[in-house]
Amino acid sequence: MQNNVIRIALTKGRLEKKATELFGKMGFDTSLLSDRGRQLIARIPGRNTEVVVAKPPDVLTFVEHGVCDIGIVGKDTIIECGGEYFEVLDLGFGKCRFSLAVKKGEEFYGGYGVKTVATKYPNVTRNFFGSKGMDVDIVKIEGSVELAPLLDLADGIVDLVETGSTLRENGLEEIEEIAQISARLIVNTVSMKLKKQNLDEIISRIEENL
Ligand code: PRP
Repeated sequence: MQNNVIRIALTKGRLEKKATELFGKMGFDTSLLSDRGRQLIARIPGRNTEVVVAKPPDVLTFVEHGVCDIGIVGKDTIIECGGEYFEVLDLGFGKCRFSLAVKKGEEFYGGYGVKTVATKYPNVTRNFFGSKGMDVDIVKIEGSVELAPLLDLADGIVDLVETGSTLRENGLEEIEEIAQISARLIVNTVSMKLKKQNLDEIISRIEENL
């Protein structure tokens, strides 16, 4: 990557639309990003800036390895995956929460047996129950975690809740909030020094337009 080019890793999916709107407000021409079809890297015309659209953990990987200077990614992924980069801004969109949920009316904390918890976020789940000194069996699920209690695979789930409708429509309920989540701006630690002027400018433009 040339030293005068800024490459941004953007999380595919829910955060993508909000971030593209933000780039638009900053005066970026986002046409190549919005209409990129199957193309994975979009140029921002006239700005020496490129946007790479990627899955959440890959955004962290690209920024950590310095192949992207900046990343836009959910705090959920940051908490789950960790890594070495600067977290510089809370972007305020993509708000949701990590919660513990169970089948409606069921008791989670009662009884003696070790509980089984299904999740896409095993580290978050381990740390949450670890901080309570509670031993749980964790089952990693890749798709709809809500299925696990419905199929009697788990006593509860740790998952993201935004509106609560997925839980409601599947007869589940939140019993405890674990953490508040929103989109964050992260920066590669070396880029922060080598491209300081360009990055400071972009970061303050982002801040002004939130
Ligand atoms: C997330 C999460 C829940 C749902 C919660 O999944 O895993 O299933 O959103 O949203 P709600 O409270 O507004 O119903 P997402 O739709 O992002 O898809 P995913 O399963 O691919 O992560």
